[in-house]
Amino acid sequence: MSRGCPVPEREDTISGLRVRLFEARAAGRTVGFVPTMGFLHAGHCSLIERARAGNDVVVVSIFVNPLQFNPGEDFDDYPRDLERDLRMCADAGADIAFVPDRREMYPEPVATTVHLGTLADVLCGASRAGHFDGVATVVAKLFSIVGECSAYFGEKDFQQLTIVRRMAADLSLPVRVVGCPTVREPDGLALSSRNAYLSEVERSQAPVLRRALESGATLVQAGETSPAAVEAEMAAVIATAPLAQIDYAAAVPVSTLVADGPLRGEVRLLVAVRFGTARLIDNIGCRAG
Ligand code: PAF
Repeated sequence: MSRGCPVPEREDTISGLRVRLFEARAAGRTVGFVPTMGFLHAGHCSLIERARAGNDVVVVSIFVNPLQFNPGEDFDDYPRDLERDLRMCADAGADIAFVPDRREMYPEPVATTVHLGTLADVLCGASRAGHFDGVATVVAKLFSIVGECSAYFGEKDFQQLTIVRRMAADLSLPVRVVGCPTVREPDGLALSSRNAYLSEVERSQAPVLRRALESGATLVQAGETSPAAVEAEMAAVIATAPLAQIDYAAAVPVSTLVADGPLRGEVRLLVAVRFGTARLIDNIGCRAG
């Protein structure tokens, strides 16, 4: 595998990627894996750089997974720019870009998918039925294709990270799931491919997500243990942005993602807010009690 190329080596087939990684492992090389849906930004690059720092071979997958979009969501309009993605992969240190098409990933008819338990029904799962089953199905397939590796996921999608970690453990997949810090714009907005949908005025109001989370965390750190009180505080901050439509503001234990009484120990505060067609999410960790 060469580094410093203008683009990484591109592989479009499952069998081709398997052969390359089999040979790499046989030569004693470790594999780092970053799954993406493309339209990369600095957040993805930070995951690739982290994978680069800890592994001999770095694979990035680029696949907009139809299974995780519900009817009426933005699958067709999801931003795509493969040439730019390949350059960014190379600049961040990726060796191989895995770019399967839909038929390669999902030969028709698909009869087997991953069905998750309650972790998938709350928070983003409550308003996006089936979304996390679609994520888990593609991630399970990608883990099976890539094989033994360390896989890097952003903490911005905290529920996704929690579900993937749990799935890898439950199914005994040979993958070490590594959570990486959210990368932000200078004004606090978490980087996301969906920020591309924001109008200028929506973009100017979007940092309200981060402000709401910081306000909630300050309350928890001051001793508040009522999830409802923390959630109300975050909702009040979000309401100060005239174009924000709140989906949820939640204060939950990290292990279950469901509030079950006063907050104790490691807590995650999470928010989802719509600005026009863009649905933005963000979260922050804190300790209660
Ligand atoms: O986080 C994403 O971009 C996607 O959900 C993932 C993990 C690449 C699966 O399609």
